[in-house]
Amino acid sequence: MFKKTLSLLSLMLLFSYAFSQNADIALTFKFSHGPYIQDVSKSGASIVFTTSQPSFSWVELTDNNGNTQAFYNIEHGVKMANNTFHTIRIDNLSPAKDYSYQLFSKEITKFDPYSVVYGDSITSESFSFSTLNPTAEELTFIEMSDIHGNNDKLEKLLHHADVQSADMVIYAGDMMDYYATEDQPFHNFIDKSVEVFASETPFWLVRGNHETRGRYSRNLFRYVPREDGRYYYTVKQGPVLFIFFDSGEDKPDDHPVYAGLNDFDNYREEQAAWLRQVVASDEYKDAPYRIVVTHIPPLADGWHSEQHITKTWLPILNEAGIDLMLAGHLHEYKYFPKDADIYAFPLIIGSNNTAARVVVNGEGIKLKTIDVNGNVIDEMKL
Ligand SMILES: [Fe+2]
Repeated sequence: MFKKTLSLLSLMLLFSYAFSQNADIALTFKFSHGPYIQDVSKSGASIVFTTSQPSFSWVELTDNNGNTQAFYNIEHGVKMANNTFHTIRIDNLSPAKDYSYQLFSKEITKFDPYSVVYGDSITSESFSFSTLNPTAEELTFIEMSDIHGNNDKLEKLLHHADVQSADMVIYAGDMMDYYATEDQPFHNFIDKSVEVFASETPFWLVRGNHETRGRYSRNLFRYVPREDGRYYYTVKQGPVLFIFFDSGEDKPDDHPVYAGLNDFDNYREEQAAWLRQVVASDEYKDAPYRIVVTHIPPLADGWHSEQHITKTWLPILNEAGIDLMLAGHLHEYKYFPKDADIYAFPLIIGSNNTAARVVVNGEGIKLKTIDVNGNVIDEMKL
């Protein structure tokens, strides 16, 4: 009997010890993902990060003169709090300036109507970024697509393309297979990007068809937030005006696998109307170089979306004097030289094993395509 009681007691002790250990692990308050820079412009940027527990979080920004200012996510008169996913917009900055920033967060252990109780406070290390410089004479960027959640491949391509010396990174879609679990974008490509460059150098995600798939796919925008609320937009950095398209799904909207939930034909028409406005704008006309990025390329004999893009966007682009189009989707490297009858611009389709390192300056566009082993598989000057 005594033995039995003793073993029961030791079992209970073991359980309570294990529980307290787990509780300690669960309660460690920390920054859990990020930070990374999004939607950077000549006058602002968004900092995205998460905390392990609900919190009140903010960013403190320091300029070159040592002036520090706190930025909060304020909506409808209240500082957003008791959340774990944080997007802090920083505005009223100067173009082409360096800033350093730090994250601050206070855990919220109780959020009652008349009593908010804070727990631990944490501060991140210091990071830095630069606002865009639309008048810079040179721009270096890395572009890749179709990584499909392979972090190992992503890391190798970023390394071989020398991301540390680039001004920006463009992910031209299908960085994920689909979006089926809540924080899959972090696990599929954002955490690795943060580890390598994204806390200080921005990436732009040009959405691929695979990112439109899965039960959480409608939440993707919170990971790549933009003030204008859109996945398609222009960015002017250095001598380049980028036109980023959102090319949608590959099959017709009424295909059974989409269950009647897609409306991409209308969406691509909407982007054609927007494109007409873009190419008529002074910013477009004044840009030394115009580079278009779309996940799905125009292919007259391709699948539905490739044909639809050929019909809706290509005639406008062929008249607009663009300098280069970058695309992905096919998982096979292809280069189509400028040909007035088909594409009135060079079209480069990256594979799922390559990255492009592109340098643009007064001498033209220099483009090098590198594979996962660091071999240069194509090099050209446009
Ligand atoms: Fe694709």
